[in-house]
Amino acid sequence: MCGIAGYIGNRKAAPILIEMLRLLEYRGYDSVGIATMDSRGRIRISKGVGSIDKVLKEKKLDSLPGNIGIGHTRWSTHGIVSEENAHPHTDCTGKIAIVHNGVIQNYFEIKRELLAKGHRFYSETDTEVVAHLIEELLKEGKTILEALRESIKRLQGDFSIVLLASPERRLYFMKKGLLPLIIGKGKGEAFVASDVIALAPYTKRVLYLEDGSYGYVSRDEIKVENVYGKPLPKRKNISIDASRIDKGGFAHRMHKEIYDIPHFASLFVSYAEHHIKGAIELLETYDKIRIIGAGSSYHASLYGEMVLSRIYKNKHIKAIVASEFPNRIDLVEDDLVIAVSQSGETYDVLEPVRRLKENGVPVLAIVNRRNSELDRIATERVYIEAGVERAVAATKTFVNQVLAFAALGGLESLNEVPKAFDKILKERRNRSGLGSEKLDEAALRIAKSLYDKPSAFYLGRYLGYVAAKEGALKIKEVSYIHAESYPSGELKHGPLALISKDFPVILISYSEKHVRKDRSTYEEVISRGANAYVITFDSLVENFEGASYISLPDVDENVSTAILVVPLFLIAYHAAVLRGYDPDKPRNLAKSVTVE
Ligand code: AGP
Repeated sequence: MCGIAGYIGNRKAAPILIEMLRLLEYRGYDSVGIATMDSRGRIRISKGVGSIDKVLKEKKLDSLPGNIGIGHTRWSTHGIVSEENAHPHTDCTGKIAIVHNGVIQNYFEIKRELLAKGHRFYSETDTEVVAHLIEELLKEGKTILEALRESIKRLQGDFSIVLLASPERRLYFMKKGLLPLIIGKGKGEAFVASDVIALAPYTKRVLYLEDGSYGYVSRDEIKVENVYGKPLPKRKNISIDASRIDKGGFAHRMHKEIYDIPHFASLFVSYAEHHIKGAIELLETYDKIRIIGAGSSYHASLYGEMVLSRIYKNKHIKAIVASEFPNRIDLVEDDLVIAVSQSGETYDVLEPVRRLKENGVPVLAIVNRRNSELDRIATERVYIEAGVERAVAATKTFVNQVLAFAALGGLESLNEVPKAFDKILKERRNRSGLGSEKLDEAALRIAKSLYDKPSAFYLGRYLGYVAAKEGALKIKEVSYIHAESYPSGELKHGPLALISKDFPVILISYSEKHVRKDRSTYEEVISRGANAYVITFDSLVENFEGASYISLPDVDENVSTAILVVPLFLIAYHAAVLRGYDPDKPRNLAKSVTVE
């Protein structure tokens, strides 16, 4: 959450910072701001509420002078969304400007001390406290590096910070805890960012800072010290394919990323052939396995629980929402924990992982972003190989998380999946009952009939229920339609009371074993006036004669969840667009949730 960027070099800083912030915008888009230092050492700030494009137009962000600067795109924690609370923030003298990602837990106490010493605050943020604290430490006679060292010790929480300190022509930084901060060096220039994506267009080798790091970068020097005495980490190559980061001709990233599913699914299948032996061995060693994840990654965890329990019949496997894991004291004695996270940055996942590791519990990560905190601290990892995902909604990464569990279970049917994706997203015209529709057109048709309704139900059994949960999350997240998922059998225990004329119900039917019951559920809802849509497979579709359905090419039911979610993603996408929302930037959300 929150994107932070810094540049120093020979070029004008502001346009580069704006480009870096564009790449970081998916981490927060409440407000945006830039601070640069001009040739006379004066710090100039421009900031405003809303997207980069909006603020750029209104405030002419790119006109700020100077070859050194910092930038920020905000996801609010402390303080409302306002220009005053937008970063960068300054001290009383205006000589220190700060951008920050994370939370300063003891900011209030420090603010009180600083107020008593006469400091004046202009925002409600925790960030501003840091600028004044450094000002105070400098006043006491400390150097900037000493002030940063002292600040890391005094400030509690997880945070990454980049700052300008006039008249020094350096980008200063400090990092405490789990949030990423990365330095990239070019010829006569340097970059700092909270996500390697922002560095990819400028440099190929980067330095991931460790917990407790502080220091500076100038045009030709990097200086890093560490409060805990950790050695300087080695530089690493950036593994991002920058050509796949853009929208590739689609109106929205979410839509493009859905169409990227076939490519990345086959990439993962090839990777799994050779690279997951260590992970499988680890899994086979332990009898009690917990799987933790948040949001879509939790849904993938649930799939993992269901499918691995079928395969490893003697193991006790349980998926838990990551933020609830610390409350489950009954589970502390676990043998192996599998942590699932696309970003590898989610606080709710990292926090328990950090503690588990301290207690000697092995952690197997299922992660997309290489070099993320989770990747670095895990005992063993499976990379899902889904490329960069920038739409806030997880689509292709959810699919590959599911495939990762299928691979861990040794499911041979994994190999069928890329072909099925090719069929539904590249070639196939859907058997929707309306002739020759493509899958996207069928999803649009369903979206058109539900986008103006306030609520919807998503129903399914077992692996179909996982798909239902994921479909309901997706439509809530991007189109703000209130959607609830239930195991189909639960409907009659209460929720059925909500069904009335035209109430949308999406029913997932994926298995011969459940299809008779699924048909009964269908009857129960349509007899009460619901508009029901069935998502099923070719071999089952005859059971839904007369229904409005989308039928998918048959695959082994153990891997069906990966296929079933594709029409659900498309329905959510189209519903958002029909309602006039930008599916790539859902309100109140950000891609990486790095706060508790
Ligand atoms: C899904 O569409 C969401 N954006 C969200 O639930 C996400 O899956 C969750 O925040 C976990 O993220 P992670 O996989 O990066 O840990």
